[in-house]
Amino acid sequence: MKLIIGSDHGGFNLKEKLIEHLKLKGYDIDDEGTYTPDSCDYPVIAQKVCSKVLENNSNLGILVCGTGLGMSIYANKVKGIRAAHCTDTFSARLTKQHNNSNVLCLGERITGVGLAMDIVDEWLNASFEGGRHQKRVDMINKLDMERND
Ligand code: RB5
Repeated sequence: MKLIIGSDHGGFNLKEKLIEHLKLKGYDIDDEGTYTPDSCDYPVIAQKVCSKVLENNSNLGILVCGTGLGMSIYANKVKGIRAAHCTDTFSARLTKQHNNSNVLCLGERITGVGLAMDIVDEWLNASFEGGRHQKRVDMINKLDMERND
């Protein structure tokens, strides 16, 4: 599993802290930028991260912007991406267990570093439960497949 991470300027500081935290835990991290606090466009970064996530079924992505919202809106338009914007650990766990989310979105202006690290840990440690949830995730995937873009 590769962990692909990216942010715009609004999420840059939190991204850097998360990378430090995740490297200490031994994760294989691919940092898709941004690499400076200068202003940039979150859709560009979201596209890069989502493309890399889709390269392998086991890959996961983390996207950070000021609110986490722009990133999640973009990511959820990419075919095959199920992005979850989380501000609490319960949602983070459940969105992996039930929705099989493959991208987690966070907002640096919303969520403090300590809680953001807990949210990321909870999400990464949880597993998709399948069963009755598989059918529902299949419905989401079917919608993706029916799109003509
Ligand atoms: C950047 O100012 C800000 O709009 C962005 O980081 C994000 O919050 C967008 O949703």
